[in-house]
Amino acid sequence: MSFDSDIHSLASRLKAARRLTVLTGAGISAASGIPTFRGPDGLSRNFRAEQLATPEAFARDPKTVWEWYDWRRQIIARAKPNRAHEVLAVWSRRLPDVTVVTQNVDGLHERAGTKGVVRFHGSIWELSCSNACGREAWSDDRVPLPELPPRCPGCSGLARPGVVWFGEAINLDILARSRRALDCDVCLVVGTSSVVYPAAALAAEAVERGAFVAEINPEPGASGVDLAIAGKAEEVLDRVESLLSPSIPP
Ligand SMILES: NC(=O)c1ccc[n+]([C@@H]2O[C@H](COP(=O)([O-])OP(=O)(O)OC[C@H]3O[C@@H](n4cnc5c(N)ncnc54)[C@H](O)[C@@H]3O)[C@@H](O)[C@H]2O)c1
Ligand SMILES: [Zn+2]
Repeated sequence: MSFDSDIHSLASRLKAARRLTVLTGAGISAASGIPTFRGPDGLSRNFRAEQLATPEAFARDPKTVWEWYDWRRQIIARAKPNRAHEVLAVWSRRLPDVTVVTQNVDGLHERAGTKGVVRFHGSIWELSCSNACGREAWSDDRVPLPELPPRCPGCSGLARPGVVWFGEAINLDILARSRRALDCDVCLVVGTSSVVYPAAALAAEAVERGAFVAEINPEPGASGVDLAIAGKAEEVLDRVESLLSPSIPP
Protein backbone atom coordinates (compact mmCIF):
# COMPACT_ATOMS: atom_id res chain seq x y z
CA MET A 1 0.00 0.00 0.00
CA SER A 2 1.13 3.54 -0.65
CA PHE A 3 1.66 6.14 2.04
CA ASP A 4 -1.50 8.01 0.95
CA SER A 5 -3.70 4.95 1.02
CA ASP A 6 -2.29 4.03 4.46
CA ILE A 7 -3.32 7.45 5.76
CA HIS A 8 -6.81 7.00 4.28
CA SER A 9 -7.13 3.54 5.68
CA LEU A 10 -6.21 4.71 9.19
CA ALA A 11 -8.62 7.64 8.94
CA SER A 12 -11.52 5.39 7.99
CA ARG A 13 -10.73 3.00 10.85
CA LEU A 14 -10.73 5.94 13.27
CA LYS A 15 -14.03 7.27 11.94
CA ALA A 16 -15.66 3.98 12.85
CA ALA A 17 -13.83 3.51 16.16
CA ARG A 18 -15.61 3.74 19.47
CA ARG A 19 -12.65 2.95 21.65
CA LEU A 20 -9.17 4.15 20.70
CA THR A 21 -5.98 3.37 22.59
CA VAL A 22 -2.71 5.07 21.72
CA LEU A 23 0.65 3.74 22.93
CA THR A 24 3.31 6.42 22.67
CA GLY A 25 7.08 6.47 23.09
CA ALA A 26 9.95 8.92 22.88
CA GLY A 27 9.55 9.39 19.08
CA ILE A 28 6.35 11.39 19.53
CA SER A 29 8.36 14.04 21.39
CA ALA A 30 11.29 14.06 18.94
CA ALA A 31 9.81 16.98 16.96
CA SER A 32 9.60 18.93 20.23
CA GLY A 33 13.39 18.71 20.43
CA ILE A 34 13.53 16.02 23.12
CA PRO A 35 16.11 13.37 22.23
CA THR A 36 14.92 9.74 21.97
CA PHE A 37 16.99 6.90 23.43
CA ARG A 38 17.14 4.99 20.15
CA GLY A 39 16.55 5.66 16.47
CA PRO A 40 18.55 7.88 14.08
CA ASP A 41 18.99 10.82 16.46
CA GLY A 42 18.76 8.73 19.60
CA LEU A 43 20.47 9.71 22.81
CA SER A 44 22.18 6.41 23.26
CA ARG A 45 24.80 7.31 20.66
CA ASN A 46 26.27 9.76 23.14
CA PHE A 47 24.86 8.71 26.46
CA ARG A 48 24.32 5.21 27.70
CA ALA A 49 20.71 5.47 28.84
CA GLU A 50 20.65 1.82 29.88
CA GLN A 51 23.63 2.50 32.15
CA LEU A 52 22.22 5.63 33.77
CA ALA A 53 18.52 4.88 34.10
CA THR A 54 18.98 1.96 36.49
CA PRO A 55 18.81 1.41 40.26
CA GLU A 56 22.42 0.15 40.17
CA ALA A 57 23.70 3.36 38.55
CA PHE A 58 21.85 5.43 41.12
CA ALA A 59 23.25 3.37 44.02
CA ARG A 60 26.78 3.75 42.60
CA ASP A 61 26.72 7.38 41.55
CA PRO A 62 23.52 9.31 42.36
CA LYS A 63 25.08 12.66 41.44
CA THR A 64 25.90 11.64 37.85
CA VAL A 65 22.45 10.10 37.41
CA TRP A 66 20.85 13.29 38.75
CA GLU A 67 23.02 15.49 36.50
CA TRP A 68 21.71 13.55 33.53
CA TYR A 69 18.08 13.93 34.68
CA ASP A 70 18.60 17.60 35.47
CA TRP A 71 19.97 18.11 31.93
CA ARG A 72 16.95 16.30 30.43
CA ARG A 73 14.58 18.33 32.64
CA GLN A 74 16.11 21.53 31.23
CA ILE A 75 15.55 20.36 27.63
CA ILE A 76 11.98 19.28 28.40
CA ALA A 77 11.16 22.53 30.24
CA ARG A 78 12.02 24.49 27.09
CA ALA A 79 10.11 22.12 24.79
CA LYS A 80 6.51 22.53 23.63
CA PRO A 81 4.00 19.90 22.55
CA ASN A 82 4.17 19.34 18.79
CA ARG A 83 1.46 18.64 16.20
CA ALA A 84 1.35 14.94 17.13
CA HIS A 85 0.56 15.72 20.79
CA GLU A 86 -2.01 18.30 19.66
CA VAL A 87 -3.87 15.92 17.36
CA LEU A 88 -4.06 13.24 20.07
CA ALA A 89 -5.32 15.88 22.53
CA VAL A 90 -8.11 16.81 20.07
CA TRP A 91 -9.06 13.17 19.56
CA SER A 92 -9.06 12.52 23.32
CA ARG A 93 -11.79 15.14 23.63
CA ARG A 94 -13.69 14.34 20.41
CA LEU A 95 -13.80 10.53 20.30
CA PRO A 96 -15.99 8.74 22.85
CA ASP A 97 -13.35 6.66 24.65
CA VAL A 98 -9.63 7.38 24.29
CA THR A 99 -6.71 6.24 26.44
CA VAL A 100 -3.15 7.38 25.80
CA VAL A 101 -0.63 5.08 27.47
CA THR A 102 2.71 6.83 27.28
CA GLN A 103 6.19 5.60 28.05
CA ASN A 104 7.30 9.22 28.03
CA VAL A 105 8.15 10.98 31.25
CA ASP A 106 8.11 14.48 29.73
CA GLY A 107 4.47 15.43 30.47
CA LEU A 108 3.89 16.84 26.95
CA HIS A 109 0.63 14.91 26.42
CA GLU A 110 -0.79 16.54 29.55
CA ARG A 111 0.54 19.95 28.53
CA ALA A 112 -1.23 19.56 25.15
CA GLY A 113 -4.49 19.02 27.06
CA THR A 114 -4.91 15.28 26.47
CA LYS A 115 -7.56 13.48 28.50
CA GLY A 116 -7.05 9.92 29.69
CA VAL A 117 -3.24 9.80 29.88
CA VAL A 118 -1.71 6.81 31.64
CA ARG A 119 1.94 7.40 32.53
CA PHE A 120 3.48 4.00 32.16
CA HIS A 121 6.97 5.07 33.26
CA GLY A 122 6.15 7.91 35.66
CA SER A 123 7.12 11.56 35.36
CA ILE A 124 10.44 13.38 35.27
CA TRP A 125 8.72 16.20 37.20
CA GLU A 126 8.07 13.97 40.20
CA LEU A 127 10.55 12.96 42.86
CA SER A 128 10.32 10.25 45.47
CA CYS A 129 12.35 9.09 48.46
CA SER A 130 15.01 6.52 47.61
CA ASN A 131 14.81 5.19 51.19
CA ALA A 132 11.07 4.58 50.96
CA CYS A 133 10.70 6.46 54.28
CA GLY A 134 6.94 6.71 53.81
CA ARG A 135 6.91 10.19 52.32
CA GLU A 136 4.65 10.29 49.24
CA ALA A 137 6.10 11.28 45.86
CA TRP A 138 6.14 15.03 45.31
CA SER A 139 6.33 17.41 42.33
CA ASP A 140 9.30 19.66 41.74
CA ASP A 141 9.49 21.59 38.47
CA ARG A 142 12.49 23.78 39.29
CA VAL A 143 15.13 23.81 36.54
CA PRO A 144 17.92 23.46 37.23
CA LEU A 145 17.39 21.86 40.63
CA PRO A 146 19.15 23.94 43.30
CA GLU A 147 20.91 20.96 44.88
CA LEU A 148 22.17 17.78 43.23
CA PRO A 149 21.34 15.19 44.29
CA PRO A 150 18.12 16.56 45.81
CA ARG A 151 17.02 15.39 49.26
CA CYS A 152 13.81 13.90 50.62
CA PRO A 153 11.93 16.45 52.77
CA GLY A 154 10.76 13.57 54.99
CA CYS A 155 14.05 11.92 56.01
CA SER A 156 16.78 14.02 54.31
CA GLY A 157 17.87 10.89 52.44
CA LEU A 158 18.46 10.93 48.70
CA ALA A 159 15.52 11.75 46.47
CA ARG A 160 15.20 9.89 43.18
CA PRO A 161 13.44 10.75 39.91
CA GLY A 162 9.81 9.57 39.89
CA VAL A 163 10.38 7.41 36.83
CA VAL A 164 10.55 3.67 36.24
CA TRP A 165 14.14 2.57 35.63
CA PHE A 166 15.33 -0.38 33.57
CA GLY A 167 14.84 -3.48 35.67
CA GLU A 168 12.08 -1.99 37.83
CA ALA A 169 8.48 -3.16 37.93
CA ILE A 170 5.54 -1.17 36.61
CA ASN A 171 3.03 -0.09 39.25
CA LEU A 172 0.33 -2.78 39.25
CA ASP A 173 -2.52 -0.32 39.03
CA ILE A 174 -0.94 1.40 36.00
CA LEU A 175 -0.32 -1.96 34.37
CA ALA A 176 -3.94 -3.03 34.94
CA ARG A 177 -5.31 0.25 33.54
CA SER A 178 -3.07 -0.03 30.48
CA ARG A 179 -4.05 -3.63 29.80
CA ARG A 180 -7.76 -2.85 30.19
CA ALA A 181 -7.37 -0.19 27.49
CA LEU A 182 -6.18 -2.85 25.01
CA ASP A 183 -9.78 -4.01 24.54
CA CYS A 184 -10.22 -1.36 21.88
CA ASP A 185 -11.27 -1.06 18.24
CA VAL A 186 -8.14 0.75 17.12
CA CYS A 187 -4.72 0.78 18.77
CA LEU A 188 -2.04 3.19 17.55
CA VAL A 189 1.60 2.54 18.38
CA VAL A 190 3.44 5.81 17.93
CA GLY A 191 7.17 6.56 18.17
CA THR A 192 8.34 3.63 20.23
CA SER A 193 11.18 1.28 19.33
CA SER A 194 9.14 -1.54 20.93
CA VAL A 195 12.14 -3.00 22.72
CA VAL A 196 11.52 -1.86 26.31
CA TYR A 197 9.44 -4.45 28.18
CA PRO A 198 6.76 -4.74 29.44
CA ALA A 199 5.65 -1.65 27.44
CA ALA A 200 6.49 -3.39 24.15
CA ALA A 201 4.18 -6.28 25.03
CA LEU A 202 1.13 -3.99 25.06
CA ALA A 203 0.99 -3.69 21.26
CA ALA A 204 1.25 -7.47 20.88
CA GLU A 205 -1.57 -7.90 23.38
CA ALA A 206 -3.78 -5.48 21.44
CA VAL A 207 -3.12 -7.55 18.29
CA GLU A 208 -4.06 -10.71 20.18
CA ARG A 209 -7.27 -9.21 21.47
CA GLY A 210 -8.37 -8.36 17.94
CA ALA A 211 -7.90 -4.58 17.77
CA PHE A 212 -6.88 -2.98 14.49
CA VAL A 213 -3.27 -2.07 15.33
CA ALA A 214 -1.42 0.60 13.36
CA GLU A 215 2.17 1.68 13.96
CA ILE A 216 3.49 5.14 13.13
CA ASN A 217 7.27 5.34 13.12
CA PRO A 218 9.87 6.29 10.46
CA GLU A 219 11.49 2.94 11.39
CA PRO A 220 8.58 0.61 12.19
CA GLY A 221 9.49 -2.39 14.35
CA ALA A 222 6.43 -3.70 16.19
CA SER A 223 5.49 -7.19 15.07
CA GLY A 224 2.12 -8.44 13.92
CA VAL A 225 0.53 -5.03 13.35
CA ASP A 226 -2.19 -4.54 10.74
CA LEU A 227 -0.72 -1.36 9.30
CA ALA A 228 2.80 0.08 9.57
CA ILE A 229 3.05 3.69 8.43
CA ALA A 230 6.69 4.63 7.92
CA GLY A 231 6.47 8.31 8.73
CA LYS A 232 6.93 10.90 11.43
CA ALA A 233 4.20 11.09 14.07
CA GLU A 234 3.71 14.86 13.68
CA GLU A 235 3.21 14.53 9.91
CA VAL A 236 1.15 11.35 9.80
CA LEU A 237 -1.23 12.38 12.61
CA ASP A 238 -1.68 15.81 11.05
CA ARG A 239 -2.58 14.22 7.70
CA VAL A 240 -5.02 11.80 9.31
CA GLU A 241 -6.64 14.62 11.28
CA SER A 242 -7.07 16.70 8.12
CA LEU A 243 -9.10 13.82 6.67
CA LEU A 244 -11.16 13.43 9.84
CA SER A 245 -11.94 16.98 10.87
CA PRO A 246 -14.17 17.95 7.90
CA SER A 247 -16.49 15.09 8.85
CA ILE A 248 -17.17 16.57 12.29
CA PRO A 249 -20.29 18.75 12.31
CA PRO A 250 -19.65 22.33 13.46
N1 LIG B 1 10.39 12.23 25.90
C1 LIG B 1 10.56 11.35 26.88
O1 LIG B 1 9.87 11.37 27.89
C2 LIG B 1 11.60 10.27 26.71
C3 LIG B 1 12.71 10.46 25.89
C4 LIG B 1 13.65 9.42 25.76
C5 LIG B 1 13.43 8.21 26.43
N2 LIG B 1 12.33 8.06 27.22
C6 LIG B 1 12.13 6.76 27.93
O2 LIG B 1 12.98 5.82 27.38
C7 LIG B 1 12.38 4.59 27.02
C8 LIG B 1 12.63 4.45 25.54
O3 LIG B 1 11.70 3.71 24.81
P1 LIG B 1 10.85 4.33 23.60
O4 LIG B 1 10.42 3.17 22.79
O5 LIG B 1 9.87 5.27 24.13
O6 LIG B 1 11.86 5.22 22.77
P2 LIG B 1 13.17 4.88 21.98
O7 LIG B 1 14.08 6.03 22.19
O8 LIG B 1 13.65 3.50 22.30
O9 LIG B 1 12.70 4.86 20.47
C9 LIG B 1 12.27 5.99 19.82
C10 LIG B 1 11.53 5.57 18.57
O10 LIG B 1 10.94 6.74 18.00
C11 LIG B 1 11.10 6.69 16.60
N3 LIG B 1 11.00 8.07 16.10
C12 LIG B 1 11.97 9.00 15.99
N4 LIG B 1 11.46 10.16 15.52
C13 LIG B 1 10.13 9.96 15.34
C14 LIG B 1 9.05 10.77 14.89
N5 LIG B 1 9.24 12.05 14.53
N6 LIG B 1 7.81 10.22 14.83
C15 LIG B 1 7.59 8.92 15.20
N7 LIG B 1 8.57 8.11 15.63
C16 LIG B 1 9.83 8.62 15.71
C17 LIG B 1 12.42 5.98 16.37
O11 LIG B 1 12.46 5.39 15.09
C18 LIG B 1 12.42 4.94 17.50
O12 LIG B 1 11.79 3.74 17.07
C19 LIG B 1 10.94 4.76 27.39
O13 LIG B 1 10.76 3.95 28.49
C20 LIG B 1 10.75 6.21 27.83
O14 LIG B 1 10.24 6.26 29.14
C21 LIG B 1 11.42 9.06 27.38
ZN1 LIG C 1 12.54 10.00 52.76
